Amino acid sequence: MSDNLLIHNIKTLYSNNHKPPVKGLKMSDILKIDNAFILIKGSRIAVVGNGDFSGYINKDTEVFDACQTICIPGLIDSHTHLVFGGSREDEFSRKIAGEDYLDILKSGGGILNTVNQTKKASFEDLYQQAKKSLDEMLLFGVTSIEAKSGYGLELETEIKQLRVLKKLNEDHPIDIYITYLGAHALPKEYENRRDVFIERIINDLEVIKTEGLADFVDVFCEVGVFDALETEKILRRAKDLGFKLRLHADEIKSIGGTQVGLKLKASTIDHLMAISDDDIKAFAKTNTIANLLPSTSFFLNKEYAPARKLIDNSVAVSLSSDYNPGSTPSENFQLTLQISGNKLRMMPSEILTAATINPAYSLDIFKDLGSIEVGKKADIVLLDAKNLEYFIYHYGINHTKTVIKNGFIVVNNRQILKENINEII
Ligand code: NIG
Ligand code: FE
Repeated sequence: MSDNLLIHNIKTLYSNNHKPPVKGLKMSDILKIDNAFILIKGSRIAVVGNGDFSGYINKDTEVFDACQTICIPGLIDSHTHLVFGGSREDEFSRKIAGEDYLDILKSGGGILNTVNQTKKASFEDLYQQAKKSLDEMLLFGVTSIEAKSGYGLELETEIKQLRVLKKLNEDHPIDIYITYLGAHALPKEYENRRDVFIERIINDLEVIKTEGLADFVDVFCEVGVFDALETEKILRRAKDLGFKLRLHADEIKSIGGTQVGLKLKASTIDHLMAISDDDIKAFAKTNTIANLLPSTSFFLNKEYAPARKLIDNSVAVSLSSDYNPGSTPSENFQLTLQISGNKLRMMPSEILTAATINPAYSLDIFKDLGSIEVGKKADIVLLDAKNLEYFIYHYGINHTKTVIKNGFIVVNNRQILKENINEII
């Protein structure tokens, strides 16, 4: 395979090349190049141009015709719960009948149901199930993700999940940035000993750090799960140990999680369906990313996050799937983006920014990824759509035609190219 790849006949190339975190009007101010081409050398972008490209071809260049598709940076899904045992379709009828998400959890179902299934699953079971999901994500044009543990709630199973993620990161073209979410729910046996559980999580953080198993730490701060004080205790220790922070907050009720996250300079605060106006104002003064997960609102039949208010008040917004077995059993990140147009009232250009450069910032990979710029890694998606607006408007389908990861074509005509993948892992 050649080291130089030239992609030409791109109908329009779209990328937000502002310095992140991208806020306010800059979120919709994206670069648009018609009749574009990209020259890739090795794993990086060497030239981005339009019109005549013949001067960039030599005998070693592989020339790839984009066939009038549109081109965007590889999508970055910065909130997933990729690794878990089993599934929860058995609770779906209860949900349809009107039972609430937190009530199902209180009865020992929900996250605790998945914890039981994850404990029972072998490393290989978890690996194979998650690998299938990663393939699905890649076909949707996702080239980097964040993924969490959180279905063990005790060290051994949490570590099993984290090790599965580490191995998948080595074996699969999608880059995985790993988060330890030991405080995802309170196990039943700790109901009257909350402090003991929190202390245990705090002690376990040291093991996770010493063994290099995660980059980030996350907590589910919610009524009936962990309160703001407990969240702060865990995240403070994590920060002292050198972890970067993420946080599930204001998903169902606003109980102070956002304030904790902002105070500790978390990389992202996620969900935010119930965020208060005061917290939006405080948010705007920081570089923390508001990571919105509208597929979760869709599946739980809950409120949508106030995306318009956040963007109009200069908060940097990103979007993620929240892929998990309970509140979002779907790897379809394109659907998340399409829901963001319809339900969050975000413009297609803002949605692109929220799925590329802003999540790259929250994952601390923006120097290499998140936009199509000379010098950056060549993670690029070709979409079989007339324009960016069409991609967001024609919902529920997969528009991906081609995915380029690290300069290699890993998906073409909606098929994963196994032989190319072996070259990059
Ligand atoms: O982000 N909110 C907490 N965690 C997940 C749901 C996990 C589950 O239900 O298994 C979420 O929605
Ligand atoms: Fe989540």
